[in-house]
Amino acid sequence: MSLIKIEHLKKEYPNVTPLKDVTVEINKGDVISIIGPSGTGKSTLLRCLNQLEKPTSGKVIFDGVDITDPKTDMEVVRQKMGMVFQSFNLFANKNIIDNITYAPIKLLGKSKQEAREEGLELLKRVGLLEKANNFPDELSGGQKQRVAIARAIAMKPEMILFDEPTSALDPTMVGEVLQVIRKLAKDGMTMMIVTHEMKFARDVSNRVFYMDEGGIYEEGTPQEIFYAPKKEKTRIFIKRLKQLRLSIESAGFDYIGYSSQLEQFGRENDLSDKMVKRLILIFEELVMEGICKRAGVYPMEVIAEISEAEESVVFEITFGGEEYHPKDDMDDITKDLLNAAIEKYDFSYRDGKNHIKCLLKDNKPNY
Ligand SMILES: Nc1ncnc2c1ncn2[C@@H]1O[C@H](COP(=O)(O)OP(=O)(O)OP(=O)(O)O)[C@@H](O)[C@H]1O
Ligand SMILES: [Mg+2]
Repeated sequence: MSLIKIEHLKKEYPNVTPLKDVTVEINKGDVISIIGPSGTGKSTLLRCLNQLEKPTSGKVIFDGVDITDPKTDMEVVRQKMGMVFQSFNLFANKNIIDNITYAPIKLLGKSKQEAREEGLELLKRVGLLEKANNFPDELSGGQKQRVAIARAIAMKPEMILFDEPTSALDPTMVGEVLQVIRKLAKDGMTMMIVTHEMKFARDVSNRVFYMDEGGIYEEGTPQEIFYAPKKEKTRIFIKRLKQLRLSIESAGFDYIGYSSQLEQFGRENDLSDKMVKRLILIFEELVMEGICKRAGVYPMEVIAEISEAEESVVFEITFGGEEYHPKDDMDDITKDLLNAAIEKYDFSYRDGKNHIKCLLKDNKPNY
């Protein structure tokens, strides 16, 4: 059953038109992940849906009501359409339970008592009952975001819009927030979620919108978009998500930053802990201790890539200079360590460059 009909939606700013002509229907129970490069109108689309932005033209019919009609009472519409932002947007001067009960009391006319009981129930649901009397700045980012979600649910919305709900969070807190959203999906909540978490998008959504060129450039099931995108730009974007390029310009490069990028890349692509450890081991032993320290030729290009077709994780290193075989220049312990991580090791020297390609052991990503 259709919950929202978006018809020829256009949003124009003085210098840019992020939404040129968007027509799409959202059904009750849909969980839609919205992905796409920066600046392609993902936030703008959500903001036009709940009228935080006024569309330039076109229509949004929500629950049979044209919410682009100036006569429509937007307060009522917003109550039915919750929104969760990247930056939580909690009231800093209210404690957690008051953050949750404020709108139900004020806008839904609930008694204090009833709103409080429901609010505590919701806090229990997101695992934060014991924080009811704390203030937002006493909570971690992940906890704040769970409160923001509980606050949205307290209004009993027909749907919830999420704009990058986990991108301001420390990696250790992402999981707890996604878990709450996952539960909502299970309970049948209609949701639109702008996210960079590919695994999550794959797991929870039934539809994925890839946005580009002023609209929904390609839509499909997670399977279609992540494994068999049809259109050029979608393909390029998805391939990039599955690839991490690190350029090493000198011996003084930020190796801690690069290791944590590798770790994050592994996590976002749902590699097992073992696989992530292998990626980091190869980076540390082969790249840093081996090639950097001994050959020391810069720039060096390092690429970690998940290749879907072969279901494999590949680590590639390219650098110039003389022909250099790192494996010939290594002690036995390091060799053993690397052998435990690498299934297949290819070396070639062409066009004045050393190319090393390592296929990781047990190379199936954890899909
Ligand atoms: N209030 C505004 N005034 C002028 N231009 C704006 C405004 N809000 C957004 N834009 C522009 O509209 C385009 C789309 O912005 P939007 O925030 O929707 O992109 P996005 O896909 O959410 O990007 P990101 O992934 O970086 O969050 C951008 O070029 C942005 O600069
Ligand atoms: Mg955005």
